[in-house]
Amino acid sequence: MPTLFLAGTLPTVSDSKRVPLVDLPRQHRDLLPELQPVIADLLSSGRFIGGPEVSAFEEAFSTYCEASHTISVNSGTAALQLILWALEVGPGDEVILPAFTFVATAEAVCAIGAQPVLADIDPATLTLDPAATRAAVTPKTRAIIPVHLYGQPAEMEPLLDLARAHQIHLIEDACQAHGARWNGKRVGALGTAGAFSFYPAKNLGAPGDGGAITTNNSDLAQKVRALSNHGRGEGGWYEHSLIGGTYRLNTIPAVFLSANLPHLDPRNERRRRAANIYRTHLKTIEGVEPLFCRENCEPVYHQFVIRCQRREDLRNHLDAAGIDSAIHYPAPLHQMGALKFLGYKEGDFPISERASQEVLSLPMHPYLEDSQIERVVESIHRFFSVPSR
Ligand SMILES: Cc1ncc(COP(=O)(O)O)c(C=O)c1O
Repeated sequence: MPTLFLAGTLPTVSDSKRVPLVDLPRQHRDLLPELQPVIADLLSSGRFIGGPEVSAFEEAFSTYCEASHTISVNSGTAALQLILWALEVGPGDEVILPAFTFVATAEAVCAIGAQPVLADIDPATLTLDPAATRAAVTPKTRAIIPVHLYGQPAEMEPLLDLARAHQIHLIEDACQAHGARWNGKRVGALGTAGAFSFYPAKNLGAPGDGGAITTNNSDLAQKVRALSNHGRGEGGWYEHSLIGGTYRLNTIPAVFLSANLPHLDPRNERRRRAANIYRTHLKTIEGVEPLFCRENCEPVYHQFVIRCQRREDLRNHLDAAGIDSAIHYPAPLHQMGALKFLGYKEGDFPISERASQEVLSLPMHPYLEDSQIERVVESIHRFFSVPSR
């Protein structure tokens, strides 16, 4: 049995021995020999925008996501916004989304002038609750945006049924779920369209910001592509059929993403393995509860999240033991300053409110070593061995 100690009494652990939340340098190390000459060639040729490299990535990502089309863009937020824009969702329209997600899901709706309508989440998985979503539908509802939070697909069947019954769009926020499967199918093109983020720390990350839209709808794909590139169509560089903007993914990030894509499945598998080890050990510790994983889902563990009522103390204790952790997210949308104007009040989304007070993300990345997971688990174990004060 390890020696007992009180939270916060451990000596500071040097940076090199810390267990980091993510380890991007380790992930990129093996790809450097392959990437360096290609990027050097692009730098010396001055080809930075578009080109066959971008098309090649889009084609590979479509194949990977089992979608007919991919339109690469410059962020996940832009991806969500462009889908809504192309679907002509705008002022006077309502879009339903979970009260517990990263702010960008709501930002995209606000950016196109529509009204975000929040719905509470399922307490076991923290993804959009289909019953709450159904209750939020009005004649003004144009779309539902379920979020595949932390890499676990939302409960799609009832949400797809609801979208079909009301003839509204289902847009997947797959920004945290590259490669996840629901009922054996990849997320991203289960509804009208899906949005992905390639923010560096995502399961598939770019060297900077990036994103993509996936869809099986050819007309939508064509329109989104035009909007992402100043409304250009087939007519030529100075033929603008629509008012759009600059939302393109550039050439160097596309090359980087293409080199990383073949490694996504093996890396996701390593994340699942790490999650299983965490689950096996954490099961025996009273006081922490890993999120439930539905049987018909293959999650990709963008984050490994536990719930804990003594979260702040546990977090301080982990920090003192040299273990990084994070809170995704410390407030539900309706309690964020930027979204106060929506007019919701405390108590409107109790499950989201409680989740925001209890969630804690533990280190999770493909190169997490068993010994590091053991250190995290052991540290949590020690924390709960000391009676709370
Ligand atoms: C659920 C969710 N939606 C949207 C986004 C926005 O993606 P980006 O940061 O690429 O704009 C993120 C990024 O963290 C996200 O986690």
